[in-house]
Amino acid sequence: MTEELHEVRLTVNGAVHVLRVPARRLLSDALRHDLGLTGTHVGCEHGVCGACTVLLDGRPVRSCLVLAVSAVDTEITTVEGLTRPDGSLGPVQQAFKECHGLQCGFCTPGFLTTITAGLRDNPTPTRDEAREMVAGNLCRCTGYQNIVASVERAAALSRGFKTGASAPSSTPGDAS
Ligand code: FES
Ligand code: FES
Repeated sequence: MTEELHEVRLTVNGAVHVLRVPARRLLSDALRHDLGLTGTHVGCEHGVCGACTVLLDGRPVRSCLVLAVSAVDTEITTVEGLTRPDGSLGPVQQAFKECHGLQCGFCTPGFLTTITAGLRDNPTPTRDEAREMVAGNLCRCTGYQNIVASVERAAALSRGFKTGASAPSSTPGDAS
């Protein structure tokens, strides 16, 4: 039996896309396979790892748990939408680069979107708040010291501090 398709209009990074998808099409699959936005990564596929995190109307959601048909009438932001209008790195991306907040990068899109939303809610996080901000995202290879430093650096960059990357002296892989 042929699966029924539904027409959906998804607004992704400011562009409107019209897709015909099955009712059970995951948003993560629609983004990656239908729209070619492969920056959104899929790890666990059941809401645990956070790699697939995108923003719906600015709020972080796990796109592996959202149906594409339920994302109509929202503004979807993927990692591809975090660059500045001129194509240069946004503050969270720049902070990860400066502070060595990634190794393989598989988890990184989920961290970048999560932190982008987190800093909107709390532009000046303490170290504990920075840790809490990324507590729901899993990284298997870089440890969290540099990721937490990236949160703090992104906050500084967003406030207009252009210099003084705050990469910690600890080695990548420390998991505290
Ligand atoms: S792939 Fe969605 S939370 Fe892991
Ligand atoms: S940088 Fe490799 S999983 Fe996080």
